[in-house]
Amino acid sequence: MASKVTLRTLNALRERQEPAVFVTAYDYPTATFAERAGVDMILVGDSAAMTMMGLPNTLGVGMDEMIVFVRSVCRAAKRTFVVGDLPFLSYQPSDETAVLNAGRFIATGCDAVKCEGGVRVAPRVRAMVDAGINVMGHLGLTPQNIGQLSGYRVQGKSRAAVDKLVDDALALQEAGAFAILLEAMPAVAAKYVRDHVDILVYGIGAGPHVDGQLVISHDILGNFVGDIAPRFAKQYARVGAQIEEVFRTYAHEVRNASFPAPEHCYPIDPAQEAEIRDCQLHRDTPLVTSDTLARLTASALS
Ligand code: KIV
Repeated sequence: MASKVTLRTLNALRERQEPAVFVTAYDYPTATFAERAGVDMILVGDSAAMTMMGLPNTLGVGMDEMIVFVRSVCRAAKRTFVVGDLPFLSYQPSDETAVLNAGRFIATGCDAVKCEGGVRVAPRVRAMVDAGINVMGHLGLTPQNIGQLSGYRVQGKSRAAVDKLVDDALALQEAGAFAILLEAMPAVAAKYVRDHVDILVYGIGAGPHVDGQLVISHDILGNFVGDIAPRFAKQYARVGAQIEEVFRTYAHEVRNASFPAPEHCYPIDPAQEAEIRDCQLHRDTPLVTSDTLARLTASALS
């Protein structure tokens, strides 16, 4: 097995100008496949609310649910760097809340945590870093304050907006964050931010001038159930359609009795089989049909 991805590895990738490969995962099989494929980082995103739980946005997932996703991913991802995404209200209320919840993710096996916001969460970031926790910031389209952003809108589209992003990025850097994730902004805006900080800068929908690319695994696999289809989400497969087709075929085969076939049934010694069949002979009457049941019920009631 290749060696564990750490902050040193991530910084070395940047030194070599190799983009880090970053995907979301929420369960054991997906994390296993991502690890086998050699991705560098997994985000156990609060997007689980939408991808795994069918909620309309990320606000409805809590720490206890996130811990289940984090535990499943960490069990699979032995080499990959795992980032646990702090859900809504798990860090905003106080430094203490932030440290305790981030600590739960770290104790479960994460290498780092992520939280949304810049200047306004900088004290929380400092508190978590001071507790010995690696923290990634998240700027641009930050889904936990979707109301304030008036929906899923592209960010950083003006000089004023990118200057605000830089202020936020510098506040995160100053607070000790090891990296910042930029979401949904023009490539030039992401480059502008990256040029103003020294820490790692990753992007999701932020163009190529960053230190690595994050995608939502359901988007690239094609198994997201919902209406949101961001421009940056390239679909490499249609796994959802394949799953549906498999269920359709299975249902058809069960209903027409072509499944299970002999090869799906356990063999038995012929002598034992004959003995069992003999014992069953006297019970070889058909099962009670609905017609029989109706007749019996009618005669009992008459
Ligand atoms: O929860 C998540 O997957 C995220 C990405 C959208 C950046 O935060």
